[in-house]
Amino acid sequence: METENQTLLTTTFEEDVYNGLSSYPKYLYSKYFYDEIGDKLFQDIMALPEYYLTNAEYDIFELHKEAITSAFAAPQGFDLIELGAGDGKKTKVLLSHLLQQEMDFEYLPIDISQNALDKLELALHQELPGIKVKPQQGTYFEVLDRLSKFNERKKVIMVLGSNIGNLLHDRAIEFLRSIQESMNAGDLLFMGFDQKKHPQTILNAYNDPTGVTAAFNKNVLTRINRELDANFDLEKFMHWETYDPESGTAKSYLVATEAQKVGIKKMNLEISFDQWETIHTEISQKYDDKVVRWLASEASLEIVRSFTDNDNYYKNYVFTKKLHCI
Ligand code: AVJ
Repeated sequence: METENQTLLTTTFEEDVYNGLSSYPKYLYSKYFYDEIGDKLFQDIMALPEYYLTNAEYDIFELHKEAITSAFAAPQGFDLIELGAGDGKKTKVLLSHLLQQEMDFEYLPIDISQNALDKLELALHQELPGIKVKPQQGTYFEVLDRLSKFNERKKVIMVLGSNIGNLLHDRAIEFLRSIQESMNAGDLLFMGFDQKKHPQTILNAYNDPTGVTAAFNKNVLTRINRELDANFDLEKFMHWETYDPESGTAKSYLVATEAQKVGIKKMNLEISFDQWETIHTEISQKYDDKVVRWLASEASLEIVRSFTDNDNYYKNYVFTKKLHCI
């Protein structure tokens, strides 16, 4: 028997929304930004002058393409596996250089979205003729597990865009460890970490005056409105960013500018907000060498080299499995 005010939870999204909005303080997971609209907003963010991360990583590829290429090279060639390939825009710079150098490699982009993978494959065949692409649909963990059984030649696993920054350190270590477990001796992990820098530069990157980042942040509410038949009034929430230079953690919030009640019909739920109550929506962690070395070592990985841009805003590190000494 169902009582009248029982909350209905049928999907993980509903469960996460319920748990997040009935907690104190409230939170929602940043992975829910990324629906079709959110993907588009994130592309707009990457094109913002304030969002230095994307250009810094481009610059690193351009500045260090020779050294990166020779770090990847192997006598039998290699498999280049990218976690969270998305539209592959950044990766193309690197791929085109690898092709120019006539490297023997296959590119295996991993993404949860088959649609994104289809688009990427088509674009790569048009723009980089001759490239060998083998898209892998699935979550990182499913695909890494599958790929750990592919051991004929060197694997280079790539995670770009400082995507790891959405994870608190404990979860970042788990993520690194699961990658480490899929690696063999000689395999590489090539990963981008946004660096600590002038706090204002970081705040500006998440606070653009055109409001794209605010729209991206609020997209999680739009999504709840549409998918769960809710009535969030986007005008009554403001995007707020903080950066703590001690921990290196940038945090995004949605702040209720007035007291209000929000109905989520599909879940038969009503949520109350006090004036100035917050929903924490994202962390974007910033790093330095010490922290990266510690994270790596907790995951039994070792930094073998790193590449940075001219401003030292961003770094791509090359890791190998730590060799166990007795
Ligand atoms: C895709 C997680 C790296 O945290 O910088 C951009 C997402 N959020 N602006 C980041 C994001 C707000 C981005 N990552």
